[in-house]
Amino acid sequence: MHTESFIAELQSIVGPNHVLISADDKAPFLTDWRKRFTGKAIAVVMPASTEEVAAIVKCCIAARVPIVTQGGNTGFCGGATPYPSGHEIVLSLKRMNRIRSTDIANQTMTVEAGCILQSIQVAAVETGHLFPLSLGAEGSCMIGGNLATNAGGTNVLRYGNARDLCLGLEVVTAQGEIWHGLKGLRKDNTGYDLRDLFIGSEGTLGIITAAVLKLYPLPLSQWTTLVATNDIPSAIALLGLFQKRAASLLTGFEMMTQESLDLCASHFPQMANPLSNKPPYTILIELSDHESEEHVRLLLEQILETALEDSLVSDAIIASNLSQAQAFWQMREHITLAQAQEGANLKHDITLPLSSLDQFMQSTDALMRSAYPGIRIINFGHLGDGNLHYNIAPPKGVDPHAFNQAEETAIHELVYAQVEQYGGSISAEHGVGQLKLGGLRAHRGAVAHDMMKAIKRALDPDNILNPNKVVSI
Ligand code: FAD
Ligand code: MLT
Ligand code: ZN
Repeated sequence: MHTESFIAELQSIVGPNHVLISADDKAPFLTDWRKRFTGKAIAVVMPASTEEVAAIVKCCIAARVPIVTQGGNTGFCGGATPYPSGHEIVLSLKRMNRIRSTDIANQTMTVEAGCILQSIQVAAVETGHLFPLSLGAEGSCMIGGNLATNAGGTNVLRYGNARDLCLGLEVVTAQGEIWHGLKGLRKDNTGYDLRDLFIGSEGTLGIITAAVLKLYPLPLSQWTTLVATNDIPSAIALLGLFQKRAASLLTGFEMMTQESLDLCASHFPQMANPLSNKPPYTILIELSDHESEEHVRLLLEQILETALEDSLVSDAIIASNLSQAQAFWQMREHITLAQAQEGANLKHDITLPLSSLDQFMQSTDALMRSAYPGIRIINFGHLGDGNLHYNIAPPKGVDPHAFNQAEETAIHELVYAQVEQYGGSISAEHGVGQLKLGGLRAHRGAVAHDMMKAIKRALDPDNILNPNKVVSI
């Protein structure tokens, strides 16, 4: 491959201003949000249309240059970061950010992959609807990235993952063809589900250029509460109580350990836990209602009353207005930001059956604390989905980079062995990327892993799309 003529060809497709080649211009695209991975790339290419994406893929096939597709670059597994070899290009979809259409009768919206998630949420509200995908990175992550990672977030227990919110896709294949799958159908059993194959494939099977998203009626009223629980069995019993009594009105059920809130408060003192006596577990619960303010408020009070009587909770604060509710959510979301400020830490994004969660946490915490005295377990997550962010920070005063270098492999192995033992998953919502590439065969088993490799080989025989992410062939 002749680099100059390759770059000239890319420039002729997207225009010279949209092919970044200087080190300074490329830099923001070459390191991930957590600063865990850094790579190199021949260029960062920013197409403005699906046809341009297709032309870039054909150009890359001819030049044998792999493509790392990037959305908002907020992913946690290094999927959007090129490898240090410098032989790849980064394909940024940030210019493809149009909302193409809204179909009110069908309750769908068709958007380009580079739309920022928050802009889709706002556009949905402007039509009187809710697009329920919600996560801390929503101000910068893009819907193409959300679908490519099958993102979760805080509304999953009511509305599902990104996969559940998507009805159709437009995809540029690894051959540079365009698959026009933008149908807004809630039923379509015409053979293999290609849409679901591309969702969660992290840029390894195709490049998502547009999607048809499901819209929902906008709730009339939301009420948020913070409650204190002493242990995980109480928290799970509380979840069961809310599921029984509030049913589909329950839209959020997030758990934060006091250790994770202490870390948050140490970086953001204004985000201290408003519950007194630092309970071991703080649960953030949200109910969303379509009937009336009074209806949901009364229901919330009644359920909390039962929970207090049954000693499932020891304290509770109901947000008295929108800004207090937002403050509760900000405290929850700022744990991740506090971790980023604290420096390198080891992330585990795991799911477990709720029935095993307590035993998992007790035994893993014990193993961890005995192997690494003084270690900080920054454990929080989407308890309603059985999804823990079981993160490890070194003991206070210990250099995190040195600690990670020495202990990263052993700590991941310890957590993942426990996850296997309790029937969980090593990736609940963040994906695999390069971070978990090595562990996937052991986790999924040889049969499943070989099927994944066969799918990758069939759809991308030239191994042009994000090679050595998710699976290596
Ligand atoms: P990127 O990071 O750019 O890419 C992620 C992967 O998708 C890469 O493999 C990339 O190659 C691929 N990709 C991107 N766009 C496309 C496309 N158009 N076609 C094909 N492949 C593509 N995640 C959750 O699930 N739940 C959370 O609650 C959550 N909270 C977060 C909070 C914070 C503060 C941060 C920083 C991140 C959080 N994340 C969360 C992780 C991250 O935001 C999600 O994984 C998100 O879906 C990634 O979107 P992105 O546009 O940034 O994708
Ligand atoms: C969250 O739930 O806040 C995210 O997945 C981010 C994280 O794991 O830190
Ligand atoms: Zn999460």
